[in-house]
Amino acid sequence: MTTQDVVEESAADTQMGHSIVVRTFDFDFPDTLDPVWVPDNPYRSHFFNGVSLTMPYLEPYLVSTMREAMVQVDDPALLADMKAFNGQEAQHYQCHRRLNAVLTNSGLPGFAKVEARIKRSYERLRTRSLRRRMAYSAGFETMTNGFTNWMIGKRCSLFPNADRHITTFWLTHMVEEVEHKTVAFDAYQACFGEYWPRAFGVLHGSFGVLGLGLVGMFSALKQQNKLFSLGAALGIVRELSIMLYEVGPFLLRALRPSYDPRQENEPQWVDEWIAGHAHADPARPLPLVDTSQATMNVPFQAQTPRV
Ligand SMILES: [Fe+2]
Ligand SMILES: [Fe+2]
Repeated sequence: MTTQDVVEESAADTQMGHSIVVRTFDFDFPDTLDPVWVPDNPYRSHFFNGVSLTMPYLEPYLVSTMREAMVQVDDPALLADMKAFNGQEAQHYQCHRRLNAVLTNSGLPGFAKVEARIKRSYERLRTRSLRRRMAYSAGFETMTNGFTNWMIGKRCSLFPNADRHITTFWLTHMVEEVEHKTVAFDAYQACFGEYWPRAFGVLHGSFGVLGLGLVGMFSALKQQNKLFSLGAALGIVRELSIMLYEVGPFLLRALRPSYDPRQENEPQWVDEWIAGHAHADPARPLPLVDTSQATMNVPFQAQTPRV
């Protein structure tokens, strides 16, 4: 089944009134963009660039693992959720692939080597048992919950005056992560349900992706001769400390045996974005978030044109 088949199948379920919306998710990026897209902050920029490098390998892995698990699931509502999960994820990674290509061509040719390493890592992971792979998926999606709350909730301090294309892309990706936040967990619970493999998956999925993302971050800093200095060390420690402070509590809560992602709340911005998108003209390209605005509102009222 091709990516297009996955998207069309899940979009059909959406039209039948399912709650996870599989919308057209398509972003283009200018051919030339500054890889340091958060002004004066190469550490934050390259941290997210490094995480982006993992997505064209991680998200297809999530999709294929979910498809494999479907044969073990009887609940029609959960099956519809799993299809919608795949419909969203299958579009995300194609945009990340485009972004990563632009980044690579914008002075970071060493990313090709990093991507080869990430590819090998997911090829190895695909040989593991379905239980372990699903626990990894559910664990990674737990960390994504934390990233969503951090990136959207703190968008004004994280991305002031940052590149609008990349900021809008990341924030929109995070909105859809909220919509399908329960699916990988529910699928794991339906197929296996054991606590300890799930708990291991929280650590494996989260730190596995973070570790690969950091390889990309360090590679970019090295390629730009920004890695070896006291300022770089302080900048890296600061960014990673902020991330762990914001995201760590989500992982700790996910390690509880009673964890359920439904217990997690999201920033109001997510609801505003979903409502705004539902009433937006589908013929128009998605407007960009205005990163020069102090509150960085959802973009639909202003209809900031794409450039
Ligand atoms: Fe995604
Ligand atoms: Fe996801």
